[in-house]
Amino acid sequence: MMQFGNGRVVLVKFKYVLAAGALATVLAGAASGKIANPAGWSADEAKAIAAWPARKATGKIDPAIEIRIAKIVKGMTLEQKIGQITQPSILSITPDQVRKHYIGTILNGGGAWPAMNKHASVKDWANLADQFAKAAMSTDMKVKIPLIWGIDAVHGNNNVHGATIFPHNIGLGATRDPNLVYRIGRATAKQVRATGLGWAFAPTLAVVQNQRWGRAYEGYSSDPAQVALLGTALVRGLQGTLKGDGDVLASAKHYLGDGGTLNGVDQGETRTSARDLVNVHGRGYYSTLDANVQTVMISYSSWTMDGVPFGKMHGNRALIDGVLKRKLNFDGIVVSDWNAIEQVPGCKVDHCPAAINAGIDVFMVPEKWESFIANTVADVKEGRVPMARIDDAVTRILRVKFRTGLFDRPISAGRFTGQASALENRALAQEAVRKSAVLLKNDKATLPLKPGKRVLVVGAAADSFPMQAGGWSVTWQGDEINNGDFPTGETVLTGLRRVYGAGNVTFSADGSAFAPGKFDAVIAVIAESPHAEMKGDVRWPAPIGQSLQYPADLALLDKVGGKGVPLVTLLYSGRTTYTTDLINRSDAFVAAFLPGSEAGALADLFAATRGYDFTGRLSFAWPSTTCPTNGYPAAEQLFARGFGLSYAKARQTGHLVESANLTACP
Ligand code: BGC
Ligand code: BGC
Repeated sequence: MMQFGNGRVVLVKFKYVLAAGALATVLAGAASGKIANPAGWSADEAKAIAAWPARKATGKIDPAIEIRIAKIVKGMTLEQKIGQITQPSILSITPDQVRKHYIGTILNGGGAWPAMNKHASVKDWANLADQFAKAAMSTDMKVKIPLIWGIDAVHGNNNVHGATIFPHNIGLGATRDPNLVYRIGRATAKQVRATGLGWAFAPTLAVVQNQRWGRAYEGYSSDPAQVALLGTALVRGLQGTLKGDGDVLASAKHYLGDGGTLNGVDQGETRTSARDLVNVHGRGYYSTLDANVQTVMISYSSWTMDGVPFGKMHGNRALIDGVLKRKLNFDGIVVSDWNAIEQVPGCKVDHCPAAINAGIDVFMVPEKWESFIANTVADVKEGRVPMARIDDAVTRILRVKFRTGLFDRPISAGRFTGQASALENRALAQEAVRKSAVLLKNDKATLPLKPGKRVLVVGAAADSFPMQAGGWSVTWQGDEINNGDFPTGETVLTGLRRVYGAGNVTFSADGSAFAPGKFDAVIAVIAESPHAEMKGDVRWPAPIGQSLQYPADLALLDKVGGKGVPLVTLLYSGRTTYTTDLINRSDAFVAAFLPGSEAGALADLFAATRGYDFTGRLSFAWPSTTCPTNGYPAAEQLFARGFGLSYAKARQTGHLVESANLTACP
């Protein structure tokens, strides 16, 4: 009999001869309700931990497997263990180095492809994956350990040429449809398995508090319940049973408070009470853990509890070891973010005992992995990191690897491996695009526009895959690419030509072809430029608004609006942002967020083909101000979360009060 979980007592029958003490250690390491901290938490740490309701273990620990794992770990050298916890980038390591250094996992960042060929085929990916996998199985270890390769498949397998790219999470949040998100998870997992990889760094569970954040679109909603619902659906879809041919590991990220930073600063400081951290930012972790998510990625951000600084999350032992592993009974892998350990005080990019001791198991050290291994070996030898901590990390890595079935069957055996057809999910993406667009204004029933009408399309974004796909598409920021990098899908222009007939659609990027009387309607497509981390932030005190960041959009609408031809404006953006001036110049206004590779499906919605109507509702409030503060206070909202018109439910919007602060925010 032994203590297991939160004081729960389980009986374990000993089938194998193993000292009771050793097994107790294994199971305690797996998931223990007890805080193994002889020194005790500080009063502040204890307060932070106490705010979290305990979560029961999922009961997925298999004692027989645990015994096998314990034996493997016992037979490993220190170098082999440290190799397992180290995660290099494919750009900085060769298969032979994986073999030599006993590497446990690898990754490719956004914009990293086999042989740095952005048009690498699914076979190129699968071949490289196979080489890495074989290298891991040809080490001189007593028991060979299979390797797992992770990728940012955050809206489909978005780095891979020819993969269908789904709408970003902000749009999926507007669908409020967990079944759809589940199906996208299933499709994405197959896309990833087609390349021979086994781990998707998704979903993002950020509960975004300020749309200045350049990564706002990676969050589903400002409503923690929606984030939990949709994030969990994606985890279920990605992971399946974990062992199927179309299953991959998911990663709940970024733990914790990534969406709460002050003024939406990327990697910034989240200030909350202990309780708000749980209720706002923590909710999605309870539900994804219940859905058996196998990995959790730590956030670059830092946390300050009621004025008490806890510092960078990567060094936060109370929240990682104390809360996630012990109180929430998470028994999978905790992974660090890209070079994030260097931000922990006293650490370097390749050396951070504090992050190891905080409870991180896998270290994303893309480039400096070799010196990370050397430094960490020395840390253990010289007592800065206890061997028990390393053993916990390796045990978790092995546990997850056993759960994927990789010990029995190599990843290349999966039936989707190398199959280009597994990359395409066009109908599903089109459904997601139609369900995620939100109709913000539709005066005089401007939409739907019946097929056969003569349409002038203006705005370069109308025929731009990069604009409609946004960040994390082909490249990291989604920039430095063009339509040629998207061999599948439709721009909205292509879709309009399909629906209205090519002869009825005139495209004039700068609007110069506009002439009253020649057209029944103008469709203006405006967009933010693609962005991801860091680059996408609009930093306080700069005012934020579409026409402030992109003044040409206002000029374009002035050119074609208010001249007797109905104007429909379509906005692609990674955030809700001040647009009252643009809405006032438009008869109808549609927020399509970042629809991905199938934006052409918007044309079907505009034409109400097959009775399609708008069902998307805002997952974040739409600001009435260019100086938004955290938390979307009511006074700053033009449209509340949940708002969205439809053809069935018409409403006159009329002229809206413009309240743009054009200089610096107070
Ligand atoms: C991002 C993560 C991503 C990782 C790997 C980091 O910079 O914050 O979301 O999974 O890089 O590319
Ligand atoms: C991103 C990677 C990207 C890299 C480029 C990281 O922060 O997460 O995906 O490839 O930066 O330097």
